[in-house]
Amino acid sequence: MEGDKGILESLERLRRRRNAVILAHNYQRPEVQDVADFVGDSLGLARQAAGVDAEVIVFCGVNFMAETSAIVNPDKITLLPEPRAGCPLADTITPEGLMTLKKLHPRAVVVTYVNSSAAVKAESDYCCTSGNAVEVVMAIDAPEIIFTPDKNLGRYVQKATGRELIIWEGCCPIHDRITVEMVLEQKGLHPSALVVAHPECREDVIELADEVASTSGMFKVIEEASSREIIVLTEAGMGYPLGKRFPDRELFFPSEEPLCPDMKLTTLEKVEKSLRELEPRVTVPEDIRLNALLAVERMLEIG
Ligand code: 13P
Repeated sequence: MEGDKGILESLERLRRRRNAVILAHNYQRPEVQDVADFVGDSLGLARQAAGVDAEVIVFCGVNFMAETSAIVNPDKITLLPEPRAGCPLADTITPEGLMTLKKLHPRAVVVTYVNSSAAVKAESDYCCTSGNAVEVVMAIDAPEIIFTPDKNLGRYVQKATGRELIIWEGCCPIHDRITVEMVLEQKGLHPSALVVAHPECREDVIELADEVASTSGMFKVIEEASSREIIVLTEAGMGYPLGKRFPDRELFFPSEEPLCPDMKLTTLEKVEKSLRELEPRVTVPEDIRLNALLAVERMLEIG
């Protein structure tokens, strides 16, 4: 389309002029993924943001992801093209709530999922993502561990590590809405399919899965799988990058497609506008940033 062509040309000019990189999460709209320099999961995006050689980072995702970029890059401009792109899971916990829980467990080490605000990360000892939560908890030698804010991921990690965790009761409403019935329906329709689930899914749903992986971890799982049919239990936007990479496989999502409205708020027009105006910027107050950085760096060091 002419309109898209104009936007794409302007975006390319601006990307060079601003010395910018565009990072996009796997759930972003296809046309946004197509203009990104890097597409990945939260861990991959945090790593890219930490190592990026550019003056401007355009973060196509939700606010906690852009905040993580701003935490590791105080001297760079981090843009979030759609400032309303939030995360209902991150909103389930406040720094005050976490401080209250810490008072009840003064000896506990706090592991906080990356889907959280910078202020909550600043109250935490370690950050983790779905791609490394098990490794992060395994690496901690402490009598008690608080795990926030995702109860489903917390329970999965608890089972995988055999460690007793004090788990915050938050969840991602999109993953939590995937039910056993929905999975059984897909399994009935595609009995030989491999089932891969995101660890934000409920415990009973995870029990039905053959593999559990972060969004980028799913690429490896599918690459190594012999089945042609794959049932994917996560946000349905994953159909685009997985379909592109595995054109010979058939992917199935729950019939009531899990969709994250926040992830779909970013459009090409908004990406171009943000590069043109160098707004909206994401910044983190320095005292919060320094504490949050410790938690993020400890995570990045674990591998
Ligand atoms: P990933 O890190 O696996 O991409 O998950 C991020 C997320 O927010 C899933 O809902």
